[in-house]
Formats: sequence, C-alpha cells, structure tokens
Amino acid sequence: MSTPRITGKARLAGVLGHPVAHSLSPVLHNYWLERLGVDGAYVPLPVAPDQFVTAVRGLQAAGFRGANVTIPHKEAAFAIADEVAPMARVAGSVNTLVFGEDGRIRGSSTDGFGFLASLEAEGIDIGAVRDRGAALLLGAGGAARSIAAALMERGFSVIVTNRTATRARELVETLSQAWRDHAAGAMPALSTLPWDHPAGVPADVSLLVNTTSLGMAGGPDASWAPDLTGAADHLIVADIVYVPCETPLLEAAATRGLTAIGGLGMLLHQARPGFRAWFGAEAEVDAATVAYVSAVL
Ligand code: ATR
Repeated sequence: MSTPRITGKARLAGVLGHPVAHSLSPVLHNYWLERLGVDGAYVPLPVAPDQFVTAVRGLQAAGFRGANVTIPHKEAAFAIADEVAPMARVAGSVNTLVFGEDGRIRGSSTDGFGFLASLEAEGIDIGAVRDRGAALLLGAGGAARSIAAALMERGFSVIVTNRTATRARELVETLSQAWRDHAAGAMPALSTLPWDHPAGVPADVSLLVNTTSLGMAGGPDASWAPDLTGAADHLIVADIVYVPCETPLLEAAATRGLTAIGGLGMLLHQARPGFRAWFGAEAEVDAATVAYVSAVL
C-alpha cells in the first residue's frame, strides 16, 4: 500500500455555499493537495444562510484552517471576520476566511488578485498596460467591483459601462467612497460611459474586461460581442466568462489581432492565496491544472 495522504494531522478547509454542489473549488484544491502530496483535505460545505454563523464557529472549533465563501454568504462572511483586508473593503466582498491560531478570523477578497494574476500569467505587463490607457469594465455587479478595486490599486483609471446606467453610476460612487474610507494613496480616476457608446471601445482604452454574463453558454446572449473596430491595436481584451473558454468577445478580439484572455485563469488564480494560507504550500496554475479543471467544466 502507498503512504496515506490524509492522516490524523491533516489540515482542513472547505467552501461554504448554498447550494455548493456546482463549486469547482473542491476539485481544484484537492487536485493541488494530491499533486503536492500535502496532508490535507478541502470539502464542500452546504450551509443554509441561517446556519452560517453556527457553521463557521463549528469549523473553527473543529480545527479547520479556514474556508472559501460563496453565494449567498458573502455579506455574512464580511460580518463574521474580525479583520477585513482594506482591498476587500473596497471590493465589498470577502471570499476567503483564514482562522488564526489566536482565534481571530481574517477575511480577504481574492477575485481581483486572481484577475490580475491571470493576465500576468499570460506575460502581460500590468504596469505597461496601465501607462497606455484606461480600463473599461463592462458590467456593474460584484465581479466588476472586485476587478475595479484591484485595477484601482494598480493605478488604473477605470471606466464602467453597464446596460442599466444607474448601476454603473452607483458602482462608481460606492467605489469612490470605499476607496476614501479604506485605501491608502491617491484615488485613480473613475468614470462611466453609456452602454450604447456609438464609437464602440474608445481608442484610449488599453484594457477591456467583460464582467457580465453576456457570451456565456446558457446566458442572456451567448453570441454577444462588442464593436472593437475603433479600439487601439494594443488593447488587451479579457472575459471573466469561462464557459465556453472561447467566447464570441475573445474570438472577435483574436480576429482583430488583439491579445485575448479567458476567464478560467482568474478562477484558478483566485484560489491560490487561500491554498497558501490553509495548507502552507504554493499552488501552481499550469497547463496540467488547466487541463484537469477544464475536463470537469
Ligand atoms: P455579478 O455579481 O456576478 O457580477 P450581477 O450583479 O448579476 O452579477 O451582474 C451581472 C451583470 O451582467 C450586470 O452588469 C448586468 O447588467 P444590468 O445591471 O443592466 O442588469 C449584466 N447583464 C446581464 N444580462 C445582460 C444583458 N442581456 N445585456 C447587458 N448586460 C447584461
């Protein structure tokens, strides 16, 4: 028999959600644990909203190292954390809880990190992209807020456009207030653009990010792509949609000769900070990881 991987000393973590069966996090973390030979396990934790606090306290009592948190618990995760990282406050989201040996719960948001890391993994120099122009975000939901916060931290001017214009304006106001309250340093420029902007993507935009469900298989419009004709030749186009991995937006970008980045990288990279904190090892996102997770999508 081979050496047992999970022993009495195993480090434990999991994902709290309701429902949680669709979550890819157990697949990904257990893949990394197995590959790195770490004595640990990561489990799905289906927890109803009214049981969230009881469940988190129970996990702490049972010696878990921490947990990821997904819908519908993100606000409750914010509330239960004793410390919330400043950028998680700007992002308005906590998706990773780390239970300290001192009994304190530390909350952070790793989506923005995951997004930027997925660009860097493709060889993109984030600072150079920022120096060439603004970031244009399509959409004004939670994903847009997390990505906007990360881009602001890296000094990007951020433009938000959304079908419902009032939500775009609300997002800019919320981000401005949160930045003033929680972030250090000067606030980068934040603005909005009409969703039906006649010239398509303006030439002074260096990074375009789709945070809506447009282009997603089974989403509101699976064939959607914006007009890229007026865009700069150095525009980087990113989509957080990862099913399909080649969205019509990414295909349009490739046809136009632009760099196009899909959403799977963000999903994989956002898991790395939690893995490091709970299991004490560095998880790598490489071709084997992408192939393994893609096979279960
Ligand atoms: P999340 O928190 O995951 O980012 P969300 O808050 O539900 O998700 O936001 C989804 C985004 O997709 C919103 O920006 C939404 O636009 P509205 O605010 O106008 O609803 C956008 N979206 C969804 N369906 C759309 C469609 N058919 N056309 C344009 N935008 C759409």
